[in-house]
Amino acid sequence: MCGIVGFIGKNPEHVLLNGLKRLEYRGYDSAGIAVKSTDKIELFKAKGEIKNLEKVILPIANADIGIGHTRWATHGKPDEINAHPHVSGDKTWAVVHNGIIENYTELKTKLMGFGYGFYSETDTETVAKLLEYYFAKDGDEISAVSKTISAIKGSYALGILKKDKDGIFFAKNKSPLFIAKAGEEIMLASDIICFKGFAEEYYPLTDGIFGYASRGNIVFYDKLGETKIAPVALDLGEYDNLNTYKHFMIKEIFDTKTALKNIIEYYSEKTNYDKLKDFDFSGITRVKFVGCGTAYHACLLGADMFCEKTGIEATAYVASEFRYQKVKLGSDTMVVLVSQSGETADTLAAFELAKESGAYTIAIVNVEYSTLAKRADAYFPIKAGVEIAVASTKAFSAQLSVLNVFAGIFAKKIGSETDPLSDLIKLYETFDYGNLNDFKLLADVLRYNDNLFMIGRGNDYYVAQEASLKIKETSYINSNTYYAGELKHGFLALIDEQTYVITFATDKNVLSKTLCNAEEAKARGGKVILCTCFDLSPSDAENFYYVVRVKELGNSLQAVLNIVPWQIIAYYISINKGLNPDKPRNLAKSVTVE
Ligand code: F6R
Repeated sequence: MCGIVGFIGKNPEHVLLNGLKRLEYRGYDSAGIAVKSTDKIELFKAKGEIKNLEKVILPIANADIGIGHTRWATHGKPDEINAHPHVSGDKTWAVVHNGIIENYTELKTKLMGFGYGFYSETDTETVAKLLEYYFAKDGDEISAVSKTISAIKGSYALGILKKDKDGIFFAKNKSPLFIAKAGEEIMLASDIICFKGFAEEYYPLTDGIFGYASRGNIVFYDKLGETKIAPVALDLGEYDNLNTYKHFMIKEIFDTKTALKNIIEYYSEKTNYDKLKDFDFSGITRVKFVGCGTAYHACLLGADMFCEKTGIEATAYVASEFRYQKVKLGSDTMVVLVSQSGETADTLAAFELAKESGAYTIAIVNVEYSTLAKRADAYFPIKAGVEIAVASTKAFSAQLSVLNVFAGIFAKKIGSETDPLSDLIKLYETFDYGNLNDFKLLADVLRYNDNLFMIGRGNDYYVAQEASLKIKETSYINSNTYYAGELKHGFLALIDEQTYVITFATDKNVLSKTLCNAEEAKARGGKVILCTCFDLSPSDAENFYYVVRVKELGNSLQAVLNIVPWQIIAYYISINKGLNPDKPRNLAKSVTVE
């Protein structure tokens, strides 16, 4: 998390602010910029969103270089003191950082022993002090940068100013960083979306690269010395246009149908369809699906789909646990990493472990220029388009769709006759967003609760987990998910006349059992909201407090039809409570720390 930006050119404060606004999805606890004028570095910082920073920036004469930061707090509370940029003791160096310096306590103690004072609780301040320390030794800036990054352990994308230098130093390890040039002007950023309207191409930095950018010139180094990086074309679709919507979350939910169409078109192309053609699948005995949060929920459903279509056992794992569970990996294992951003630190760590073991890795990822998409053995894009709202919506539906197609392609390679796109085409033809007025009314009822319960069996349970997560993160209501059959084993004790029990029942095989569980909740006074794709007789329907009716699909992509109403309901609960659904408190979109 955290976003960094740097700019060399006219009106840097203006460009930095625009860049930071585009990076705000990475964190919005505080923001700051450092701008170099003729002979000094000016610092501006503010707690909270970029709009607060905008208010405190004063005009700076002759400014032509700057760095900026938007923060998701890891070390130290989100206040102005801990806000980046951080400076050296002699105020010569200013640093913005995305990542975590894991050995900062040890470095800090050492530097304090040399007489350096610290003003913040951040790990980043150590970097500023280290630069000062190493520069004092041999008077060479690039050597100070090189020694500093050798001394620090952890992840970093760094942008660095020095008071008497007309350029920006940078370094990258395990946090994204890109750099672009337009004539004499240079921009560096955590995400290439900052380059839209600025450059036609950019330089993707890999881990271990550091360097120095000055007017019209960029010099790259790796541990062997100066190196070259080839630029790549900037290819961004439309991404920051809200059209008539008030928030990205609702706009993105309504992008779902377009995403489904894009996936069908992309995977209808022969070369994209047959991505596994060079892969010798015959030795694969184990398949692991790995992701975090919403992407993990997609993995749960994806593992089921894979098993159903291929007959090969598949298991889903939470990425942050993957390394610590006794997971058997090796060349007979395929590890499928699912992620919207392709930069989630826990998912990347799971990927590294899989690679080390010799497993075959597949990335099912939205961001095509991300680390996971670039480094996995095979990449299946999810074609959702840019997702800005912190709560993932269209990416979840797109992940499920591509997981389904991926399982279909794999099944076809081992003899299935079925068209891998058939489930998705049926979904596309059946898809609709449901009755918005009903969802608004339901949201109005649910907003007054502190606790909600969601139950389901099989895939319905996984969808319930995702629906719960959407409600929790956008409206701060505690929503608990249970397997419907588990109700009677404990949590029934929590149910009374005030309790809403949202019951997902869209699987014919377990329908009667799930409905019995809903009855158990009702018998204890619970208000059961049924989410189903089956027709109910009027008298049956009257049994429930409310029925959310979705269309019946008859294949495993039913989950997409089931989740969309709950994404919309979560959005409206958030709006009704006066919250900002695009930026839930304490969260950020791309979680680049473990
Ligand atoms: C929830 C949400 C998160 C992400 C998770 C993984 O709405 O967005 O739970 O799904 O942080 O992120 P990615 O998919 O980028 O790896």
